[in-house]
Amino acid sequence: MNFICDHTAAFLSEEEYNLYAARHKRALQTVDENAYPSDMLGWVHPEKCASEAICAQIKELAAEIRQNAEVFVVVGLGGSNQGARAVIDALSHTAAPNGPEILYAALNLSAAYYEKLLQKIGDRSVYIHVIAKNFKTLEPGLMFRMFRSYLENRYSKEEAARRIITTPTVGDEALHRISVENEYRYLPFPTDVGGRYSVFTPVGLLPIAVAGIDIDKLVHGACSAAKEYQTGGFVRQAAKRYAITRNALMEKGYNIEAFSFFEPQLEALGRWWRQLFGESEGKNHTALFPVVCSYTEDLHSVGQYLQQGKRQIIETFLHVCTPPTDKKVISESEIEDGFDYLNGKTFHEINECAYKATVKAHSEGGVPCMVVEIDNLDAYQLGELLYFYFIVCYYSSVLLEVDPFDQPGVENYKEEMFRLLGAE
Ligand code: PA5
Repeated sequence: MNFICDHTAAFLSEEEYNLYAARHKRALQTVDENAYPSDMLGWVHPEKCASEAICAQIKELAAEIRQNAEVFVVVGLGGSNQGARAVIDALSHTAAPNGPEILYAALNLSAAYYEKLLQKIGDRSVYIHVIAKNFKTLEPGLMFRMFRSYLENRYSKEEAARRIITTPTVGDEALHRISVENEYRYLPFPTDVGGRYSVFTPVGLLPIAVAGIDIDKLVHGACSAAKEYQTGGFVRQAAKRYAITRNALMEKGYNIEAFSFFEPQLEALGRWWRQLFGESEGKNHTALFPVVCSYTEDLHSVGQYLQQGKRQIIETFLHVCTPPTDKKVISESEIEDGFDYLNGKTFHEINECAYKATVKAHSEGGVPCMVVEIDNLDAYQLGELLYFYFIVCYYSSVLLEVDPFDQPGVENYKEEMFRLLGAE
């Protein structure tokens, strides 16, 4: 993994960078010295929340599900599904064949979506994984209700119980109690890890393993990044540089960060990144607003704004040096279509030209650009990458003096919604 921020020099001088870093020395030190006061830092240690024993349990359960299920429904919202979706989509090309189709419930409150989901399941064999840290969120609560009666009607109560796996907080919430009372198998949601930091816990790892992706490699990548961070190596230095740069630029009037990539299978990863930064940092009327750009498609929409709209956007490209697959452009046709200059080139070569051209055009157009680069889209490197973003977000939130691990603003609409629904 590589972090490149040469292109920001024209927008943020070394002196401005150093001044910002010096003003926030104490905040940076609290992270560097493990002195940040929070009991939600369990994710810092993937070697513990994804220990060999936990991974072995997950793999055993996943093997059973892959054997028996044709569809696996992940019932969870926000941090309770984004990590799994991001990894499953990004690594789809590495997944073992013949596993169940992974579907997602509890993403919304749409009857049409739910009806379509049931239609998709049809008469195929189904297992569900219900994930909830506090089991107060309406969407997973509603969907679990619907799926519980669906499974009990379709199979027997006993067979439904075999097909329901849960990930509750053990001890202090209803989902755990329901699981124990009904003999559902459960893998605990660690108490010291919040939803959006949970991809290296059973929350993310069970669906990822069911999808046929190598969770050992993913966790090894995360653990190697964790070691780099804990020992002050590349991950710590690069994450700090990225966090300081983006916030120093914000102080200079930039309000938005675009997260851009040229491989569409990274779209769910983009949503994961958006949630991580949006929910962690967007408090106290501060922080960059995170947006996601999937190129080249979005170059033909918001690309126009990036190039010539209000100068308030910084952009970070996630660049995959070697794509999952490549293909040569061939044309046997004699038709004069004006695209002969593509003959003999590969899709990757063409995509690389689009990437380089975009970085150049956006930089020259007044967008401070940074690049996070990985060699390959494989489980190990993705594990490193996701952990790296956790650390960037952690430093960045602490620089902004916001708690990266709460989301009090999400409660406001909920209270009104519960009142309208007559909930107690
Ligand atoms: O990242 C977070 O903490 C949130 O997005 C939660 O994951 C989300 O609100 C769902 O919470 P719960 O798992 O308690 O239903």
